[in-house]
Amino acid sequence: MAEPDAGTLLLGVVGHPVRHSLSPAIQNAALRHDGRNAIYLAFEVAPDNFEVFVEGMRAAGVRGLNVTLPHKRAAFDVCTTVTEEAQWTEAVNTMTFEGEEVVGDNTDIEGVRKTLLELGAELDGAKILVIGAGGAGRAAARASMGSAGEIWIANRTPARAEKLRGSVGRAARVIPWKELADAAVEADVIVHTTSVGLSESETVLKRETLEKSKCKVLLDLVYGPGETKLVLEARGAGIRAADGLAMLVLQGAEAYVTFWDTSAPVEVMRQAALDAVGRAEP
Ligand code: ATR
Repeated sequence: MAEPDAGTLLLGVVGHPVRHSLSPAIQNAALRHDGRNAIYLAFEVAPDNFEVFVEGMRAAGVRGLNVTLPHKRAAFDVCTTVTEEAQWTEAVNTMTFEGEEVVGDNTDIEGVRKTLLELGAELDGAKILVIGAGGAGRAAARASMGSAGEIWIANRTPARAEKLRGSVGRAARVIPWKELADAAVEADVIVHTTSVGLSESETVLKRETLEKSKCKVLLDLVYGPGETKLVLEARGAGIRAADGLAMLVLQGAEAYVTFWDTSAPVEVMRQAALDAVGRAEP
């Protein structure tokens, strides 16, 4: 990236909190690699200021924004046009400004799907177990739709699992939380989307369960400086596994494609994410 000048385009990620975000490292690495005169910053914006922030960004001619917690629903509400994925999840993580239009997309879905495919998952006809039914669970369920044979949804609070099942339709089934281990043994693909494992070394699935499982691919949407216990134990049980960092890179790559209407330098972005958390290539 050259020194910013009067022609430098601005992009960024908006969240609250946002200081831990890896998106600036990932996106700026791609901008540098592609020699674009653009810069990507992090904007810490409280919920009460979100709407006025977006209006200001639009007026300033900002190229695009990524949106993280807690603004994904508010972003959906302020967009003038949304993609099918954003509509389905009622959550926007990527906004582009096109004149008066604010276009909202949800690249988390494609991020999950591409990460599963990168892990070699065969999604066609597969039994996919989605653990968790929050925003990330919704994105994972949507990513499985269309190809999965069955989508099993397990969530601690049953009402949320039921709601997601209703949105997914006939391919979906709710798994009672206490039957999670049995379902995990039978599933072909597992996507873990709860916050368990974020700060403690607790996991939702025991090692014995993973060892008995038919599962070939496991994606844990949690990530930290190191790989999660769930990912390490799954690998130990012979399952191909990745954590949320892999997905973060691929949803960021999808956003880059949306911002610039060109392919993304995915390997550069992946390396930037690994460097930012101080991890070596797995
Ligand atoms: P996100 O958008 O990241 O999915 P969220 O909408 O707050 O965040 O959802 C968090 C998910 O983690 C939910 O599935 C939640 O389960 P509940 O619906 O029962 O709250 C799950 N979760 C959080 N803490 C949990 C715990 N200790 N055990 C099991 N599930 C947990």
